[in-house]
Amino acid sequence: MSRCRRVLVVNGPNLDILGSREVDIYGSLTLSELEDLVRKRAAELGVEVEMFQSNHEGAIIDKLHQHASDAVIINPAAFTHYSYAIRDALAALDVPVIEVHLSNIHAREGFRSLSVTAPVVTGQICGLGWLGYLLALEAAVRIGGAKS
Ligand code: DQA
Repeated sequence: MSRCRRVLVVNGPNLDILGSREVDIYGSLTLSELEDLVRKRAAELGVEVEMFQSNHEGAIIDKLHQHASDAVIINPAAFTHYSYAIRDALAALDVPVIEVHLSNIHAREGFRSLSVTAPVVTGQICGLGWLGYLLALEAAVRIGGAKS
């Protein structure tokens, strides 16, 4: 039986304006619609899910410090590419972490293909739009639980 009971989903800057932001790249789903899809799938999988979005680096770090979940799914958005502080906060977690990006960060501007967070997470899903979050949730349920 899975040891994963609770999953924290963190969304970084500018993801609060999904649905109106560069829809050709990120799609027309709003953040609350995306969160509803994740909640629905979480209910089917029998896990609790907590959603958190912030445009502020420190708020994301505080949330990661305070988490009480068995797995973390994070789309650090632009912080992916330069936030060593978020990278360090992720490295300190004792549960599996799955990094998600709606777009294929490797097929866009050069600066996006570097993820400073990728080396410290368990795995990364990108380029599959909102489906990536559902796949990350399924992975979290299968692998979630304290490392120790
Ligand atoms: C993103 C990709 C990032 O490069 C960008 O800054 C974002 C969203 C994605 O989900 O595709 O804000 O993380």
